[in-house]
Amino acid sequence: MERQEALKCFQENFGAEATHLCTAAGRINVIGEHVDYCGGKVFPAALNLRCNVYARANGLKVIRILLRGIPEIIVLDIDMLDNYRSLKLGNYQAGVAYYLQQEGTPIVGCDLFYDCTVPFGSGLSSSAAIEVATGVALCELAGVEYDKVHLALIGQKAESQYAGVNCGIMDQFASAMGKKDHAVLLDCSTLEYEYVPLKLGAYCLVVANCNKPHNLVESKYNIRRQEVETALKAIREVKQINSLAELTPQDFNEVKYVLSGIIAKRAEHVVEECQRVKDAVAALKAGDIVELGRLLNESHYSLRDLYEVTGRELDTLSALARKEKDCLGSRMIGAGFGGCTISIVKKTAVDGFIKRVGGAYYEAIGYKASFYETSIEDGVTVEKF
Ligand code: GLA
Repeated sequence: MERQEALKCFQENFGAEATHLCTAAGRINVIGEHVDYCGGKVFPAALNLRCNVYARANGLKVIRILLRGIPEIIVLDIDMLDNYRSLKLGNYQAGVAYYLQQEGTPIVGCDLFYDCTVPFGSGLSSSAAIEVATGVALCELAGVEYDKVHLALIGQKAESQYAGVNCGIMDQFASAMGKKDHAVLLDCSTLEYEYVPLKLGAYCLVVANCNKPHNLVESKYNIRRQEVETALKAIREVKQINSLAELTPQDFNEVKYVLSGIIAKRAEHVVEECQRVKDAVAALKAGDIVELGRLLNESHYSLRDLYEVTGRELDTLSALARKEKDCLGSRMIGAGFGGCTISIVKKTAVDGFIKRVGGAYYEAIGYKASFYETSIEDGVTVEKF
């Protein structure tokens, strides 16, 4: 939606002008999947696809939320913010407001219009973008100073404890702290981070959504978390570690006898994926995009065979990409079970890539994939009118 149109919509619905536009980004993850909640390093980047929140203080005791495309306004009483956990829409916002208030940030009554261009259920973290943009808007309207890493943690808490999806910190961190043309190498056990230029030479990243209907992703995600916790517990019987990410592949070989079946497979993925992140960052820094592409493929195979979070749609989409001679690698990103892939494709070959992969995907699956024009941007922006 164009800005003028959004401002008009705000005016028509709330009877006053917006004073702020706060935005937070959706994200991709170059590599490091399903390791953030195991203390591993991840390598995400913030996108031009964003959650835009137009905002003003309304002088009332309520937060009024309007979402683009949804006629009803959601109303949250700021004295009862603990009561909205089961809302289908507005629960992330309520969770962020609730936890900010709990720690002493004054929450002022306000009107918020959400124009989110991160496709929902795409694995590009629309939820994190909503949480972070909400945190920024609430702090801006209250006139309080805020730390973006802290807002990322508040967003994660809102999603895991308030809305019940036991997510790691990657998405909210990328959404809050992303930097134009860089990926963020984030150590999820310490929150130390480093920006690495996402320079791919003659290549670029193509983001494609397999468009599989959203189906029980949250519950399957929570099961994976339990499985790796089971693995950690068993390994700790024989080796002193705080997280699976501390194990090198060699260490893992020595202790894996205590694991069996799917628990062993899940842990093996985590350990190897952590190693791949190190290798991928080294490859990128050295300008070795071919090696980076190979590691992306390996990551996908591991998510498919060991972590089992891909499915026919994501496997088909990434396999079709891999068949292209101008594609160096392709993998699913995010939680999986649906959502997006990223592929490293020669810039001059992108149009043909989209045409062929899109066409063959439609033939194989029976509905279309979507391809997005993306760029890597700053995580958070704020404008005051
Ligand atoms: C989701 C979660 C993240 C992370 C990824 C998988 O996006 O929100 O915390 O666990 O899945 O890497």
